[in-house]
Amino acid sequence: MPNAGDLSGRFIVVGVSGGIAAYKAVEVCRLLVDAGAHVAPIMTPDAERFIGKTTLSALCSEPVHTSLWDDASPIPHTRLGQRADLIVVAPATARVIAAYAAGMSDDLLTATLIATVAPVVVCPAMHTEMWEHPAVRHNVATLRSRGVHIVEPEDGRLAGGDMGRGRLAAPETILAEARRVLAPTQSKLAARHVVVSAGGTREPIDAVRVITNRSSGKQGHAIANEAARRGAKVTLVTTADFLPVPGVSVVRVETAAEMKSAIDTAAASADVVIMTAAVADFRPVPIAEGKWKKHDGVPSVVLEPTPDILAGLGAAKRPGQVLVGFAAETSNLVDNAKSKLAHKNLDIVVANDVSQPKVGFGHDTNAVTIVTKLGTSAIPLADKRTVAAHVLDSVEASLHPTQEHP
Ligand code: CTP
Repeated sequence: MPNAGDLSGRFIVVGVSGGIAAYKAVEVCRLLVDAGAHVAPIMTPDAERFIGKTTLSALCSEPVHTSLWDDASPIPHTRLGQRADLIVVAPATARVIAAYAAGMSDDLLTATLIATVAPVVVCPAMHTEMWEHPAVRHNVATLRSRGVHIVEPEDGRLAGGDMGRGRLAAPETILAEARRVLAPTQSKLAARHVVVSAGGTREPIDAVRVITNRSSGKQGHAIANEAARRGAKVTLVTTADFLPVPGVSVVRVETAAEMKSAIDTAAASADVVIMTAAVADFRPVPIAEGKWKKHDGVPSVVLEPTPDILAGLGAAKRPGQVLVGFAAETSNLVDNAKSKLAHKNLDIVVANDVSQPKVGFGHDTNAVTIVTKLGTSAIPLADKRTVAAHVLDSVEASLHPTQEHP
């Protein structure tokens, strides 16, 4: 645990929006001030229905800001957005999350969020039904894909006595996330070229039909975003449609053949290649010209194997290059992963048991076992960003110190 005072000199904007959990924002601000940060609070008009301005003004480092128009400085959102080393939104209501995801700036808090390049930590709090609504899920996923850090709400008592997921994370958890995000990067990945693949490939049968799989690309995108956060130069070869974060250059592909060509090109200068994609093992041959019509009868689809991209990289691996494979398994997780590690000449295999609930394809969460030549480590169910951080910790441990860039 870092020492108290480790946030000294850091300018942190804390945005408080209108939910019952606003009272916990008081404690978040106090913890940040105690850790040495200069805390500038912003309240939305609805937040003022839950806590008094005097409370936040008294314990933060400057008086609370509430409006684009009544502030002492003429353009408070740009002043706060530009000065911030970090913005923490706690609690973040469904409305603020939606406005931020849509790029709307209808109050001082959302205007400040749009007017900053600082990292942002969003801490949602709302009723379970709202948290699980597809619109909220979509907006949270959008923010994540842009590199916003989400501190998941917890299970527990909600407003009105209901129980369920949606309670604001504990103030100590929010403080820990602020510290993690602001921690100086001493990553071995800084200035390295990291190539990541993501998503499931789509193999055409005819002009309109494809064979594909359930991979969403979320885990690969989370790894790419985290590698960029650690200072790597990232090439992301993906079939998925999420927006990239700064530092990630995206190559969009569809088929295994296109993915192989893009990966082989990028791998020539890569220090690390992480094959998160679910590449089709088989593809239809030949691809019918035009569309197969019903009146032609039920077609027989003949498949041929696709080239194994990762095995090809393993066979041509340069000294010092780190290769990471993924293995989606339903049984014998570790044994199968160890055999892939050896066969494909890999440094790391990340294995997940996709028969378990909330694990792997399509979910926001994952549980994996990281297998290296030195041993295995099990990462219990966590959001895909956390799993990405563990995978990259393992990559950093595999990068040979003598290969480090100056
Ligand atoms: N992979 C690849 N090229 C392929 C198929 C898979 O690069 N044509 C990569 C995937 O990106 C993943 C790893 O290989 O990193 C998966 O290994 P693989 O042996 O193909 O696992 P499975 O597809 O699960 O194979 P099996 O069905 O034999 O378990």
